[in-house]
Amino acid sequence: MTHHVSAGHHGSHADTRSHSHGSDPGDDLAQILDLDAELFAPYLAATTRRIADLSKGGVRHIVDLGAGTGAGTFALLERFPDARVTAVDSSAAMLEQLTRAAAAKDVAARVRPLQADAGASLPGIGDADLVWASASLHHLDDPAAALAAVFAALRPGGLLAVAELDGMPRFLPDDAVPDRVGLEARCRAALAGLHAEQVPHLGSDWAAALTGAGFAIEHERTEELRVDADTPLPESAGRYAYLTLRRIREAVDGLVDAADLVAFDALLDGGAQDVRHRADLVVRSTRELYIARRP
Ligand SMILES: C[S@@+](CC[C@H](N)C(=O)[O-])C[C@H]1O[C@@H](n2cnc3c(N)ncnc32)[C@H](O)[C@@H]1O
Repeated sequence: MTHHVSAGHHGSHADTRSHSHGSDPGDDLAQILDLDAELFAPYLAATTRRIADLSKGGVRHIVDLGAGTGAGTFALLERFPDARVTAVDSSAAMLEQLTRAAAAKDVAARVRPLQADAGASLPGIGDADLVWASASLHHLDDPAAALAAVFAALRPGGLLAVAELDGMPRFLPDDAVPDRVGLEARCRAALAGLHAEQVPHLGSDWAAALTGAGFAIEHERTEELRVDADTPLPESAGRYAYLTLRRIREAVDGLVDAADLVAFDALLDGGAQDVRHRADLVVRSTRELYIARRP
C-alpha cells in the first residue's frame, strides 16, 4: 500500500437529511473519524511533529476543540508525553467513546472530557499551551466568536492548530460506473449545494479568520491526502469509502437523477460494484493546516 500523504475531511456533512437506510448517523460519524485517523495516521503524525517544532517545548495543557472520538487527542498525547488534554465536544456520545478509548490506551488520567459548546468561552480554561481544532470550526455558528474564546483560553505565546477541509473525500474514477460517467462528481456537487446552505463556514478563509482574531500565523499548508493501494485494498479504506458514500447517498436522495441514485446504490449493496472491494478505489481528501500563535 502506498500512502501519499498530504492532508484531509472526515465526511461528516451528509448527516443533514433523513437517514432512509436506518443507519445511526452519530455512530457512522464516529466510525468514519476513527477510520480517517487510521488511514491518514502518517499525516497526523507529521502534523503533530510540526506543532512540536513550533511549540519550543512547554506544552502541558492541550485543548482539543470538537474532539470527536479523539484522533487528535491521542496523537497529541503521544507527541507531548508531559501533557494532558481537555477534550471538548458538544456530543456526549462522542465524549463517551473518547473516554472509553482513553482507558483502553491507558491514558485516561491524562484526558479530561468536557461537554461544552466550542463556540462559546471555554469554562475555567485560561492557561492552555496548545489548542487543536480539527474539522470542528466549520461546524460552529460563529467561528469568529469561537476564535476569540480560544485566544482567551491560550496563554500568551500559546499555539492554535486548525485543520480544515474543503468537503467530503473523493473515492472513485469518473468512469467507475461506465454508463453513469461522473456519478460521484454529480453527487458531490449536489452535496456542495446543501453544504452551502447548511454548513456555510465549510471552506472559509481560515487564514483571514485567524488573523482577524489576533493570531500570528506561523505555518500554513494545503495538501491533497491520498491513499491508494495495490490489490487487495486495505479493509479500512473500503469501509471508510462505504460509510462516507452511504452518508452522501442519503443526503442527495431526491437531488440527483433517479438513474444516478440506482447506480450509486449499486456501490453500496454488497454486489460486484460495491466500493468495499473495488480495485479502483483511491481515497483522496484535501486538507488545510494552519498553526498560529497568540502573540
Ligand atoms: C468532523 S468531527 C471532527 C472530530 C475530530 N476533531 C477529528 O478531527 O477527528 C466534528 C466534531 O465537532 C463536534 N461539534 C460540532 N459542533 C460543536 C460545538 N458547537 N461545540 C463542540 N463540539 C462540536 C461534533 O460533535 C464532532 O465530534
